Amino acid sequence: MTPQPKILIWGKGGWIATHLKQLLERQIPEVEVAETAIRMENREAVLAELDRVKPTHVLNCAGKTGRPNVDWCESNKEAVIRSNVVGALNLTDCCYLRGVHVTHFATGCIYTYDEAHPIGGPGFKETDKPNFAGSFYSRTKGHFEQLASVYPSTLILRLRLPISDDLHPRCLITKITAYERVINIPNSVTVLHDLLPVAVRLALGSETGIYNFTSPGAVSHNEILEMYREIIDPAFRWENFTVEQMRHVVVAERSNCALDVSKLEAKAREFGIEISNAREAVRRSLERSKGL
Ligand SMILES: NC(=O)c1ccc[n+]([C@@H]2O[C@H](COP(=O)([O-])OP(=O)(O)OC[C@H]3O[C@@H](n4cnc5c(N)ncnc54)[C@H](OP(=O)(O)O)[C@@H]3O)[C@@H](O)[C@H]2O)c1
Repeated sequence: MTPQPKILIWGKGGWIATHLKQLLERQIPEVEVAETAIRMENREAVLAELDRVKPTHVLNCAGKTGRPNVDWCESNKEAVIRSNVVGALNLTDCCYLRGVHVTHFATGCIYTYDEAHPIGGPGFKETDKPNFAGSFYSRTKGHFEQLASVYPSTLILRLRLPISDDLHPRCLITKITAYERVINIPNSVTVLHDLLPVAVRLALGSETGIYNFTSPGAVSHNEILEMYREIIDPAFRWENFTVEQMRHVVVAERSNCALDVSKLEAKAREFGIEISNAREAVRRSLERSKGL
C-alpha cells in the first residue's frame, strides 16, 4: 500500500519555500508538511532530520541565490559551491540512501540565446547542454543538475525569473519596476500561481528527471511593464538600455533565453491542467495582485 505522503520542505523561510508551504496547507491540508532550515551540506544533520521526520518526499527550495542579487555569488564562490553543489548533492544522496523522493527547485538560467536557439526560435530542451557560464550562480546550478539527474527518485524543476501575485521584492515584476533602466528581450518566466500546483502534482506523483518549469512562450520586460502600467500604475514610466550597456552596471552577466516546455505541458495535461502562456499568465498575476 502506498504510504500517506509526508512532505519535508528544505529552505525554511526562503521565498519559494514559503509560497509552497502556504499552497500545500491551503490546497491539500490532508498532506503532512514539515519544514527545515538544517544546512544541506551537514551530512549527519541531514540524515538525522530525514530519520526524525520520515518524509516520503523532500521539496528542496534551499540554495544560495545572492542578496541583494546574484552578483553576490561572484564574491562568495565557496559559500555558493557549499550550498548549490556540495549541499544540494549531499541532500540528494541522503534522500537516495533513505529511499525518499526529492524535488529540486532549480533554474533554467543555464542557457543563453545562441544560433540554434535565437530570439523567437526554438526554445532550449531539457536535453540541451547548458551554454551559459556568465554567472557563477548559473555555473554551480548547471554542475549540480548534471550530477543530481543521475540519481533515481530525483526530480529537477528548472524555474526562471519567478513571478508571484504579491509583488514580493524577489518577484521579477517588482525587480524590474525598481530598476532605473531595463533590457528588452523576451524571456521564459515562471508564474508561481500557475506552476507551483503543478510542481506539487509532479512531486507527489514521484516523477523523475528534468523538467523545464516555466510558463509556455516568452515575454519581454517591456511587455511586462506595459501590463504593469495598464493594470497597476498608469503613471509608471521606464527606460530601456542594451545588454551591452547593462554589462557596465552588473558584475555577473544575466541569462536571457526561452525554454521549450512541451514536456511539462504534456505531463500537466495528464493531470487535466492546461498551463497559460507567459503573457496571459503575467497579465492574470498582475490582475490578482490588484484584486481583480
Ligand atoms: N528567486 C529566483 O529568481 C529563482 C529563479 C530560479 C530558481 N530559483 C531557485 O529556487 C530555489 C529557491 O529560491 P528562493 O528565491 O526561494 O531563494 P531564497 O529566498 O534565497 O531562499 C533560499 C533559502 O535557502 C537557504 N539556504 C541556502 N543555502 C542553504 C544550505 N546550504 N542549507 C540549507 N538552507 C540553505 C537560505 O538560507 P540562508 O540565507 O540562511 O543561506 C534561504 O532561506 C533556489 O535554489 C534558487 O536557486 C530561484
